[in-house]
Amino acid sequence: MSRTPLIVHTIPALRRALDRITKKNATTALVPTMGALHDGHVSLVRLAKRRARKVIVSIFVNPTQFAPSEDFNSYPRTWKADIARLTAEDVDLVWHPDVKTMYPDGFATTILTEGPATVGLEDRFRPHFFRGVTTVVGKLFTQCRPDFAIFGEKDFQQLRVITQMARDLDLGVKVVGSRTVRDRDGLAMSSRNVYLSPVERSAAPELYRAMKETVRRLRDGDPIEAAVAGGAEILKMAGFTLDYFEVRHGETLAPIASLKDGPMRILVAANIGETRLIDNLAV
Ligand code: PAF
Repeated sequence: MSRTPLIVHTIPALRRALDRITKKNATTALVPTMGALHDGHVSLVRLAKRRARKVIVSIFVNPTQFAPSEDFNSYPRTWKADIARLTAEDVDLVWHPDVKTMYPDGFATTILTEGPATVGLEDRFRPHFFRGVTTVVGKLFTQCRPDFAIFGEKDFQQLRVITQMARDLDLGVKVVGSRTVRDRDGLAMSSRNVYLSPVERSAAPELYRAMKETVRRLRDGDPIEAAVAGGAEILKMAGFTLDYFEVRHGETLAPIASLKDGPMRILVAANIGETRLIDNLAV
């Protein structure tokens, strides 16, 4: 029988818990989350367990990465089910600060990154997003001081931005990306998939199909422009409105002219009804 993880809400309690779990010099891996855990998160936890002796999961719906018009208030919160999942996975510690603990009155520091945070993908459509993510993840790293931190590749630009930040600020944590987990029909798992109506849910896998078709055409030697236009057309036919559907360098996320210039990645953000989905695929 698995034991409920230690759950802490304050910085002093976190310090004591970290002292306890790292007593025998145990390595730690942190999985930062906003809760509403699904099988994708479970795969992050399992990867964390393979990397380190002790696993910490943070659950914090971070207000600073949502614009006022976005879904902070309605973001799914499923605390009981989340703890049940983390108990089943034998997680050691859950860090669950409230907003006042993370951002006390008078909080006045922001971490701003350039490089992958300013390549014109998510940052173009959600200009507030990365400063919110880097500030909170920077804090999670200094609070939890993990040896490893695991992030899903589904948020590929976020993974690149956090990797850059950890390196630039010598945060002493190895940032590890974890493969995207998909439903059987190809839809990448996301806490926001619960927003999809049945009709939207049945159209959503077209996102994966459009990326796969574009990968196929690129590998067959089609010019990038034509392959991308074909992918975008699949999505329009399926009822999506596109924010972007682009081929970029798989590490720097800079625009790329041909397969010879380095690893390529397709990155897409598209809206179906009220829901915005993002996904990506290596070429
Ligand atoms: O990917 C997420 O769930 C969030 O952006 C993160 C990394 C937990 C920061 O709030």
